[in-house]
Amino acid sequence: MVIAIDGPAGAGKSSVARAVARQLGFTYLDSGAMYRAVALAAIEQGREPAAVARSLRVELGERILLDGADVTEAIRTPAVSEGASRAAADPAVREAMVAQQRRLLARGNWVAEGRDIGTVVAPEAELKVFLTADPAERARRRAAELGADQARVLAEQAIRDERDRTREHSPLHPAPGSVTLDTTALSLDQVVQHVVRLASQR
Ligand code: CDP
Repeated sequence: MVIAIDGPAGAGKSSVARAVARQLGFTYLDSGAMYRAVALAAIEQGREPAAVARSLRVELGERILLDGADVTEAIRTPAVSEGASRAAADPAVREAMVAQQRRLLARGNWVAEGRDIGTVVAPEAELKVFLTADPAERARRRAAELGADQARVLAEQAIRDERDRTREHSPLHPAPGSVTLDTTALSLDQVVQHVVRLASQR
């Protein structure tokens, strides 16, 4: 079974997907970490993201490994967030990432999260959830997580949101047949239990 969770930055996708996966005994797939790894490699090597995407070896788990090196923290910096958002607009990068993600999801039980899981990577997923929240609340959560300034996070988030929504290839939008969940006023646990309930109904 595949549970697809998509939505903008700070809507709670990672925390929700991780907790749902733990509760159901499924494997968690953080597709954003793959785009982040491409961005980091491109910055470090001074090459175009498309050039590094094809040969990149990303291992996802408790720690994120990029060609064997632990990049778990390095991929969360603001510079890499911005680079990942740019890299993700390139169809050649998306093609390489989507192929890897489909290979992983072909077997087993997964909770996969990102921007295009329900629309492109796994449109046949048994459950598709679109998580949203007010922009200010999303920025508040992200700023608290990073220990960063909220106004700055909100400004950077607005740029990435706009790019994700308006890009030509795989723009962010709810997949047909998905359940939209506004998490602004909900606790993490409330959202997790809601998704688990939906999954058990499928
Ligand atoms: O949660 P946050 O927006 O900080 O980042 P993320 O989920 O780790 O994704 C980083 C970037 O990769 C996003 O800004 C998206 O542009 C892109 N992305 C994508 O295009 N498709 C995905 N399936 C996952 C991420």
